[in-house]
Amino acid sequence: MSGKLVVVSNRIPTGDTPSGGLVVALHGALEQSGGLWVGAHPDTAGPGDTGLTEIDRGSYTRLAFHLSEAEYDSYYLGFANSVLWPLCHGRADLVELERSYEEGYMAVNRRVARLLADKIEPDDTVWVHDYHFLPLAGELRKLGVSARIGYFLHIPFPPLSALSTLPSPDDFADWLASYNLIGLQTRRDTARCLEMFRSDPRAEFMTDGTVKFQDRVVSVRSFPIGIEVDRFAEAAATPTDAADLGADMGEQLVIGVDRLDYSKGLPNRFRAFGEYLDRKPEDAPRASLLQVAPPTRERVAAYRAIRAELEEIAGRLNGAHSELDWTPIRYIHHAVDRDLLAVLYRRAEACLVTSLADGMNLVAKEYVAAQDPEDPGVLILSRFAGAGEDMTEALLVNPYDVSEMAEAIATALSMPLEERKRRHAACLRVVRDSDVSGWAQRFVDCLRNCVPTLAYDGLP
Ligand code: ADP
Ligand code: G6P
Repeated sequence: MSGKLVVVSNRIPTGDTPSGGLVVALHGALEQSGGLWVGAHPDTAGPGDTGLTEIDRGSYTRLAFHLSEAEYDSYYLGFANSVLWPLCHGRADLVELERSYEEGYMAVNRRVARLLADKIEPDDTVWVHDYHFLPLAGELRKLGVSARIGYFLHIPFPPLSALSTLPSPDDFADWLASYNLIGLQTRRDTARCLEMFRSDPRAEFMTDGTVKFQDRVVSVRSFPIGIEVDRFAEAAATPTDAADLGADMGEQLVIGVDRLDYSKGLPNRFRAFGEYLDRKPEDAPRASLLQVAPPTRERVAAYRAIRAELEEIAGRLNGAHSELDWTPIRYIHHAVDRDLLAVLYRRAEACLVTSLADGMNLVAKEYVAAQDPEDPGVLILSRFAGAGEDMTEALLVNPYDVSEMAEAIATALSMPLEERKRRHAACLRVVRDSDVSGWAQRFVDCLRNCVPTLAYDGLP
């Protein structure tokens, strides 16, 4: 057996019952194997460089680094969420290029590498997550860390053309090439990553499919992330007072659950629901849209703008369609407990996932897992969410086409039982195949066993 597993991600779980896809997945993997999880301290704008603080110790150790207010602004709000996030989600128009962002991002990556380096033994396995830490492996290598280091990008891999938006476009491939294994959500992301290396004169493809990049060798594969299927299915089927929640929401319920992010296609989703209401026959059951969307990253201007836009659309549609005893769009601005969420998913006849770009989208998988297989609801899923690549029996839609989405809502809400069951069974197979425990295991096994030995020991 190899040494310990060391996981690095910006967000880490706090408390005993972590929630959220990435956090739940890695929590499970570490609970089984033991090890170390390092991430940003939840109290942002702390005192800055004070080393690593232990925030919890159970079957594995959690250590947090503190960000100063300036680092939070430049590394997290700045380079991560005002440059890389919009760039990877096809919104180059929202990219804010400030020199201080890139400097802050590199400085935090260097500092985290310094804090980590002496905690890593050569036979450990290091697994770095997401766009906050692209340069981390390179920084660890500079400090002499020779352990295997893998990387998983949870968000879409940017098309080659978008990379030119970066202040130093050549860095992206260089950062990634310092990992031994790059994991991506979908085959489309893998193709984009390979296209980046193919077009880079510093890279060369080896006969075994790995990429030789100057003095390094890296493998690229897709590992579609999933959810804890049985846990979700059980929570959804557990009777609770919350089952009454949907009672005053109309005869049919359509649900949407997202962070309030411009990549989720919320304005068009609301418009599509409005168009559905405009066109629906008089005698069709009364349907409501329940949208749960807590604000996120609010200090970034684009996130404040989406909130204002959405409230304006919801207000207009409710003004036009509400009746004394019914409001068609319910918009909840806060997070909902996960067990309650599972019950609401099961109560809903349809779920709208309309991302304009999305790495995977776990809500789509949660909705499918939560359904009663004998009377399931219908998933309406954007073609641009990673989940759409394999869940082809969902009602796939173009999130830019409001009328197509309005038609999909009508189709979903009147779909015969047999068709609902058939589509649901096919989607559930995909959800089960990507169950999150297997996902983490597959990545770690691959990193430990099937990627070539380190280039730092000499190229094969
Ligand atoms: P993203 O990672 O971009 O936020 P995903 O759909 O992949 O999108 O994952 C979101 C996760 O956060 C899901 O597990 C979902 O249940 C959870 N989540 C999103 N919004 C809420 C909310 N309002 N209340 C509770 N959980 C939420
Ligand atoms: C996405 C990202 C994660 C991030 C999460 C919540 O899922 O891929 O890295 O943690 O959104 O965003 P936040 O900025 O609140 O951590």
